[in-house]
Amino acid sequence: MPFSVLFMLVFVQALSASPPAPPQNIHVSNWLLTWTPSTEEGDPTYTVQYSSFSSGVWTNVPSCVHMSSNSCNVTSTKAEGEHGCVMLRVQAERGGRTSTSVKACSRHGDSCTPDFSLTPRSGSLTVNLSSNHSLALEYAAHAKHRVYYGKEGEPLLKYKDAVASVTISELQEGQRYCVQVQYLYFRNPVGLATCTQCELIPESKKEGQTVIIAVVLIVVLVCLIPGVAYFLIFKTERIKQCLQPSYNLPENFLPEPFSEHHLSIYSSSPTEECWDVISSISCQELSN
Ligand SMILES: *[C@@H]1O[C@H](CO)[C@@H](O)[C@H](O)[C@H]1NC(C)=O
Ligand SMILES: *[C@@H]1O[C@H](CO)[C@@H](O)[C@H](O)[C@H]1NC(C)=O
Repeated sequence: MPFSVLFMLVFVQALSASPPAPPQNIHVSNWLLTWTPSTEEGDPTYTVQYSSFSSGVWTNVPSCVHMSSNSCNVTSTKAEGEHGCVMLRVQAERGGRTSTSVKACSRHGDSCTPDFSLTPRSGSLTVNLSSNHSLALEYAAHAKHRVYYGKEGEPLLKYKDAVASVTISELQEGQRYCVQVQYLYFRNPVGLATCTQCELIPESKKEGQTVIIAVVLIVVLVCLIPGVAYFLIFKTERIKQCLQPSYNLPENFLPEPFSEHHLSIYSSSPTEECWDVISSISCQELSN
């Protein structure tokens, strides 16, 4: 009983303190950053931050801290970043909890093209690309993306060509990797490559999870074994008693005393077939 109560408390607490949903469809155009506010109850506030690609340090956009509107004038970031490249990110907050931040790439106040985002996993990095861009609409499958990648601080010499999203695998965990994307038309790069985005490849979580599962199992066993043993050793008599049927049989359980009707069946009546009651069978009779 105390365990289930504890479990319920933890569960309820986790629910009530759940962080707000992250903002969606984040987009920057003409120095105006916009996003779709979450539709959840309890209005969250939003904070916008920017980072130059080289520094990797996030700084609040002064006019867009803890605000309830879903757009931010990012003109103040004009002077930041190299080649007009600035990363922006938005985070929702409610009741002291924050959502994951959603990033957008800005180049001279507009979304970087090709627009892409990065999803790091242990050992790999997924470059999320859209096959729905102006070049693709015009040239269909002849338009592709070239994804340049490499470790942070090193020139991005390796690349992969892809129509849409692509996953780069066998990356070193705990290392930051950077990605640049450029449009390709018939294998020829078109226009400038995007701003560089970098992400940390997280360490594999498998080990930690195994440890947690093992600990939970041990705790459950440690709690269960004494309980089961206690019941087996001390409560066997009680259990047996509970399982025993009661001695009081219901009245109609025993056959009713023979009535006239019953008797007429047993006694041979003239209208019914005449049955001989076999009392004994001798070998002689069987051989006949
Ligand atoms: C953004 O702010 C700048 C000044 O910081 C102003 O000139 C510009 O009109 C603003 N843009 C919008 C869309 O409000
Ligand atoms: C593709 O992009 C256009 C505008 O650029 C948009 O109207 C359309 O809905 C998009 N299609 C998909 C499938 O995302």
